[in-house]
Amino acid sequence: MRKKIISGNWKMNLNLAQATELAEGIKKGIQNKKSDAQLLVFPSTLHLQKVNEILTGTGVDVGCQNIYPSGLAAFTGETSTDQLKDLKIRYALIGHSERRQFMGETDEFLNRKITFCLKESFIPVFCIGETLGERESGKTFDVIKRQVVEGLRNITNDDAKKIIIAYEPVWAIGTGKVATPEQAEEAHAYVRSELKSLFGSEVSEIIPILYGGSVKPDNVKSLLEKPNIDGGLVGGASQKTDSYLALIP
Ligand code: 13P
Repeated sequence: MRKKIISGNWKMNLNLAQATELAEGIKKGIQNKKSDAQLLVFPSTLHLQKVNEILTGTGVDVGCQNIYPSGLAAFTGETSTDQLKDLKIRYALIGHSERRQFMGETDEFLNRKITFCLKESFIPVFCIGETLGERESGKTFDVIKRQVVEGLRNITNDDAKKIIIAYEPVWAIGTGKVATPEQAEEAHAYVRSELKSLFGSEVSEIIPILYGGSVKPDNVKSLLEKPNIDGGLVGGASQKTDSYLALIP
């Protein structure tokens, strides 16, 4: 049985006071929650230290929204896994559609990041998903397949077991247009079948596949009920204490 994972991507949205308040709110709120779900938040890199300090020992893991695939070196503006290790951070979002779209991150570059994360014992949360145009022109499965095959190229079966995938259809991100549970399940089942072709049945059944795109407290349950939806990667609704807590099954 795969555990449910509720993760919050805070993107570039909060200032330090707001991020601190949110982390404190989550810390307090989860004391009253009895849940088996794994909880994970991705604050801005600048706020990692503070948020991590607050959430250490609470069972909520903290991850970075991006890494550069190198140890300490001359890469201006980037963040190394070596720096994150100082904070005992072990999770990294890789290939969010905003980075693919606005920072030009390619499948090949994301494969380098994933490979590097695994070498450094980080858990990559690898984001994939089609745009509206791709969906409307019937290319959804081709795009997902390419992203999975290229992004996970040369990953061993043992390493593949450590990866988390997040399917986030770009047209559903921040738009309020959530994929229906059936649309999401169809894509997740397809991702799992691709994982099976790459890594075999046993490994494909271990890898969690999260759904992202306008997940809210009022739609999360119907999504999580689907057999291949193992959790959520949530933007907007994860950035307020009460709505984040309300997402936890
Ligand atoms: P929203 O939940 O705001 O649609 O964002 C989803 C997302 O991009 C999470 O990574």
